[in-house]
Amino acid sequence: MFITLEGPEGSGKTTAVEAAVKALQDKGYQIVRTREPGGTPISEEIRNVILDKKNTAMDPRTEALLYAASRRQHLVEKVWPALKEGKIVICDRYLDSSLAYQGGARGLGVDNVLNINLFATENTWPDLTLLFDIKPEEGLKRIASNSSREVNRLDLEKIEFHNKVRETFLMLAKRYPDRFVIIDASKSREEVAKATLDAILNRLCK
Ligand code: TYD
Repeated sequence: MFITLEGPEGSGKTTAVEAAVKALQDKGYQIVRTREPGGTPISEEIRNVILDKKNTAMDPRTEALLYAASRRQHLVEKVWPALKEGKIVICDRYLDSSLAYQGGARGLGVDNVLNINLFATENTWPDLTLLFDIKPEEGLKRIASNSSREVNRLDLEKIEFHNKVRETFLMLAKRYPDRFVIIDASKSREEVAKATLDAILNRLCK
């Protein structure tokens, strides 16, 4: 089972899933936790290029292609082998982030960005996508108050950009209702963690 975590900046998706991972491991499931962009040495190098605050001249299509390249390498080296071994892969961000950030917010078009990603992923879709939904103002406030999370090039975009990201994620959830579960990330840590575990267990029992 391939699970992806999506949402705007500062939605708390990484923290929310920690408790769920522990509970699943206690039940005997083998979990691989990973993230995009990154997750393998080559993909991490691509990540550094994409997120470097110096790279303000990066063209939107270059950005979309680099995310897709990093995604492919991560699938080949980490995700596909783990899925083949019957493990549950839980990945912070995947193809929907490209659709929302590059397709929606950067204005490249969701379907254009989907096309390059279908090539990159050979049509590998997640079984379950948890969308941690939160208003951008709230999410960005959380990042500002969390000193352990470094501010990256995309965080520095204007609020309209982040509103567009959120809007596109919500549109994608409507477009792919069988795969998406929306979690209200503005709720308390405990409530969000419980909703996360419930959504995963529900899918595992299907
Ligand atoms: P990261 O520090 O991992 O942020 P977060 O904790 O919010 O996941 O940075 C990843 C950034 O890259 C984030 O701003 C979202 C963006 N992104 C895209 O624009 N397109 C993509 O395809 C992916 C995977 C991420």
